[in-house]
Amino acid sequence: MSPSRRALVDDVLPKLMVPTPSASGTLTAADLFDPAPGALWMEIGFGKGEHLAWQAGQNPDVGFIGVEPFVNGLASLIDEIDGKDVNNIRLFDDDAALVLQSLAPGSLSRVFILFPDPWPKARHHKRRFIRPDNLDLISDAMGEGGELRIGTDHADYGNWILRQMNRRSDFDWLAECPADWRERPDDWPQTRYEAKAVRDGRSSIYLRYRQNGLSRGP
Ligand SMILES: C[S@@+](CC[C@H](N)C(=O)[O-])C[C@H]1O[C@@H](n2cnc3c(N)ncnc32)[C@H](O)[C@@H]1O
Repeated sequence: MSPSRRALVDDVLPKLMVPTPSASGTLTAADLFDPAPGALWMEIGFGKGEHLAWQAGQNPDVGFIGVEPFVNGLASLIDEIDGKDVNNIRLFDDDAALVLQSLAPGSLSRVFILFPDPWPKARHHKRRFIRPDNLDLISDAMGEGGELRIGTDHADYGNWILRQMNRRSDFDWLAECPADWRERPDDWPQTRYEAKAVRDGRSSIYLRYRQNGLSRGP
């Protein structure tokens, strides 16, 4: 990273950072934004942040938490929004599970997980972000009516995600016909990673789930 970019991150990141998360489950949108926004959305693993910046621009009344441990990704997003009138993004530079644990139940109304790392080797599957413990955290932080969006270009991870989600009672898949998962919705701009998949000839799936308020079981 160039020294000027490093300096920008060092200057801006502390001002936008989500306070050090605790497992207390008490953090609310009002702790992050003044005035508190009407809704709080989170993007997990935003990469270089194009999708997050687009959503934040399109939805100025929503507060966003963007989570990305990759410092060059944080730097790209900060570069993108620096000097612009974007006041509805807060950032976290570590594992998204830590923020999810710290949020008050029901505080999130939308979560994006776009092209998460597929960890293709079987011995690495336990590192996949879409797994029961993380989905429990999302479900609890989200509450009834929240929407979870997941995209992937990886066929095996796609099947894994569908299996993980199908066995849950607390999320309903919103697809009614194949186009609903084969075609990217208009309010879901292409991410950098998806653009690479397109260049490499891979197609993607676009999954939308609604948290339905039912118990997620024991
Ligand atoms: C394959 S990239 C996709 C980036 C972006 N969403 C896109 O579509 O272009 C996956 C991203 O997830 C981030 N990531 C991995 N584990 C994470 C975690 N536990 N919490 C938050 N982000 C994570 C990685 O740093 C990486 O930038």
